[in-house]
Amino acid sequence: MASNIIFQDLPKVPSLATVHGTVMGLAFAIFMPLGAFLIRFLRVRNVVWVHTTCQLAGLALVLAGLASGIRLARIIGQLHNNAHTVLGTVVVAALLLQPFFGFIHHRLYLRTQKGSQWATLHVWYGRVLILLGIINGGLGLQLASGSPVYSKAGMIAYSVLAGLSGLSLLVIIVVSFFGAGTAAKQGVRSDPE
Ligand code: HEM
Ligand code: HEM
Repeated sequence: MASNIIFQDLPKVPSLATVHGTVMGLAFAIFMPLGAFLIRFLRVRNVVWVHTTCQLAGLALVLAGLASGIRLARIIGQLHNNAHTVLGTVVVAALLLQPFFGFIHHRLYLRTQKGSQWATLHVWYGRVLILLGIINGGLGLQLASGSPVYSKAGMIAYSVLAGLSGLSLLVIIVVSFFGAGTAAKQGVRSDPE
């Protein structure tokens, strides 16, 4: 709605949009799928800390993306009046619980040497949120497509990356469903969970 636009801040939109799209893209299309891939397939000691580092770096980027996204949406009068900003806020808020689920599962595993419902929760909650984040990036590009600062190159770059990451996450899900690739079960990962 034109009445909601903060006209004096409009010159800040191009740089805010670039920062927002870039950090969100890095987090959901690179860091988080990579962290999921590594915990499933990387055969090294302490792989859980490689995973945690990757995911917490992703989460830090997401928080930067949330701050720039809210600022951006306020300026152009699109805060929580469209699917992208609503779904994005829900995904980011839900993601804040995920490190706790991972941590609880890891502590339980160290004590019992067994998986638990926390593991199932952490794994599926994480997979679904990452996929929703990737999809929401597409909605963001759609939202930005009417804007004068819209970049076709950015759109193509995001689509290719997001497509590949989404696909690799689906491959992880299928592979883990058939029992392969779980280094923990093969006794390769020394302290997997
Ligand atoms: C899962 C989380 C999110 C992802 C992956 C994401 C990603 C993106 C991407 C890739 C774009 C298009 C490129 C750009 O214009 O920079 C975009 C645009 C946008 N995003 Fe997000 N975003 C997320 C969450 C949010 C949130 C929580 C808000 C605000 C509350 C927000 C506000 C916006 C706005 C207003 C635009 C349009 C910018 C314009 O018209 O130029 N986004 N987002
Ligand atoms: C925002 C932060 C985090 C995200 C987004 C995240 C996401 C994920 C995802 C998607 C998986 C499933 C990988 C697959 O598809 O096979 C996973 C597995 C796992 N995560 Fe996290 N994670 C996060 C933080 C943590 C933390 C802090 C810990 C522990 C201290 C942790 C420990 C684990 C473990 C042990 C597994 C393997 C579970 C199993 O295969 O049984 N995660 N995580």
